[in-house]
Amino acid sequence: MSVIQSSKPVSAVASFEDQQRLKVVFVGHVDHGKSTLIGRIFYDTQSLADGKVEQIQAACREEGMEFEYAFLLDALLEEQEQNITIDTTQIQFKTARRPYVIIDAPGHKEFLKNMITGAASADAAVLLIAANEGVREQSRRHGYLLSMLGIRQVVVAVNKMDLVNFSEETFNAVVAEYRQFLSQIGLEARTFVPISARNGFNVASKAAVEMPWYKGPSVLDMLDRFESPKPTTEQPLRFPVQDVYRFDERRIIAGRIESGTLRVGDRLLFSPNNKTSVVASIERWSGEPGEVAYAGESVAITLTEQIFVQRGHVASQEKDTPIESNRFKANLFWMGKNNLVAGNRYKLKLTTQELDCELVSVDRVIDASTLEAVGEPRNYIARNDVAEITLQTRTPLVMDNHDRIPTLGRFIIVDGHQVGGGGILSGGTYTDRTQVKSQNIFWSEGKVTASHRAARNGHQGAIVWLTGLSGSGKSTLAKALERELFNLGMHTTILDGDNVRHGLNSNLGFSPEDRVENIRRVGEVARLMAESGLIVISAFISPYRVDRRRAREIALEGGCGFLEVFVDAPLEVCEQRDPKNLYRRARAGEIQEFTGISAPYESPENAEVVVPTSKLSLEESIAVVMEALLPRVRHEFSPEI
Ligand code: ADX
Repeated sequence: MSVIQSSKPVSAVASFEDQQRLKVVFVGHVDHGKSTLIGRIFYDTQSLADGKVEQIQAACREEGMEFEYAFLLDALLEEQEQNITIDTTQIQFKTARRPYVIIDAPGHKEFLKNMITGAASADAAVLLIAANEGVREQSRRHGYLLSMLGIRQVVVAVNKMDLVNFSEETFNAVVAEYRQFLSQIGLEARTFVPISARNGFNVASKAAVEMPWYKGPSVLDMLDRFESPKPTTEQPLRFPVQDVYRFDERRIIAGRIESGTLRVGDRLLFSPNNKTSVVASIERWSGEPGEVAYAGESVAITLTEQIFVQRGHVASQEKDTPIESNRFKANLFWMGKNNLVAGNRYKLKLTTQELDCELVSVDRVIDASTLEAVGEPRNYIARNDVAEITLQTRTPLVMDNHDRIPTLGRFIIVDGHQVGGGGILSGGTYTDRTQVKSQNIFWSEGKVTASHRAARNGHQGAIVWLTGLSGSGKSTLAKALERELFNLGMHTTILDGDNVRHGLNSNLGFSPEDRVENIRRVGEVARLMAESGLIVISAFISPYRVDRRRAREIALEGGCGFLEVFVDAPLEVCEQRDPKNLYRRARAGEIQEFTGISAPYESPENAEVVVPTSKLSLEESIAVVMEALLPRVRHEFSPEI
């Protein structure tokens, strides 16, 4: 199991305290007092090392400077910078009720990026507005971002009340203006608290003397009233596949459970290929097996039936599946140096999925402070724009609406090698996939030129050459493979003996010479098709080794990959299956030169893939071929094409 050990370690199930910990983000206009408020909270909750406050106060005296609470935060950040082992996103404090983590602080320049990309997510927010300056553009922009990120628990701290003589009127005016703005974006602030961070009024304790008119809670009281994040174990199961390891016949599927609960015996549905199988075992890196695994855990599972599964697939319960679509609306925040331009190709990442995508249309660019649509319609998004857009991926994306399952509803877009921006998905339609097997919402557009198609295929042409006795399962496998590839957005077609013999090769029979000619023509046709970019699945008995070798050479001349697949079923089995009643007739002497009975079949000696169809289910047979085929045809998109 060495392969597994080299992979990521298990993240242990979170302790109770970890689960309770509320992640808070502090946002607001630069000068509105964030650092002071955070410093004051440290002070009031005694969250700094013993003697730290006194030390800083003494240093201020020496310098002849007035002590400020913001220094406490500066000191902490400085300490963190020197100590690389401390994660700088982890600034913590604790109230009597529970622990908190501040996931943004001034000095954390990456916070916006972290929040958008999901590197950090907040459960609650404190938004600061200075009473003496009132609602600023940035106050609105931040409010909008909170709403876009789905943070619903917000306390608005109206700071610097000491500078407006603790005026209730001024406070009420700020509240009225900002409340109106928030209601427009569907965000309802739980509470507005008039504070003076510098004096600690209404931060941890009430300022009954200075602001007797305020009867509500302090900032910390308010935070304590917020709900702890709901354990994601209660949400529908989402298990994005990170890797599939193969040990003998068994496949071990590894990933992180993003939400929900997974049990041995559960029937899982893998999106987007809609394959189902039952969990046979759950294996942990620690070696401890178990019957159940929860959201947040990295585990490996085995299935009772070895269906085709690959990185990027998402397992769910059959009844509660994610959305599958290749065209969807999103809210996007763009931070990239270059504009995001319609028609260009980018990489979209969502959990372990990585898909080529393109911006189809910019539906609205929003000025986050006025909530007005910006200017004329345009086909690009510039740095710092917030926009409503339509995206299209080449192959289906497995996703959830952000308000249902946040981790599956959040994506990032990579431009070149840089994260350009990120966004959230909403308004997608869930379909019941237990009713109709394939209700994927696909979108197709006309007017695609030949060069567009070539760039869009995303895979090389190749020939999958199925050989085997009549009745061994070539046609059945070919059809299933074709469907599988098609569902993956690949371009594919079948050349089948029975069909080709009706048309192109209708002048050929089953004499040795005719069979040679049959396979020669098919080899040439397959090459032409593969050259035009298709994955050609050929299903012919092709009984002679030398003919198959020639078909391979023809393909290689054309620069096409060639995968020989031996569809291996014993003669007895084929004869018993006898789907076309031909074996019986051959035995009765009604058909001459019948392969396996009165004509030879030369089994492949070096086929790339052997599929024992009498031992494997159809799903398992597909898996064996797909595993060999996909790495050979995978093609990194190159925009120069
Ligand atoms: S091949 O030998 O020339 O590769 P091919 O795959 O095209 O054969 O056609 C095989 C199909 O033709 C069989 O599945 C069967 O339905 C039909 N058939 C009719 N006569 C024969 C025969 N004598 N031998 C084998 N297949 C036959």
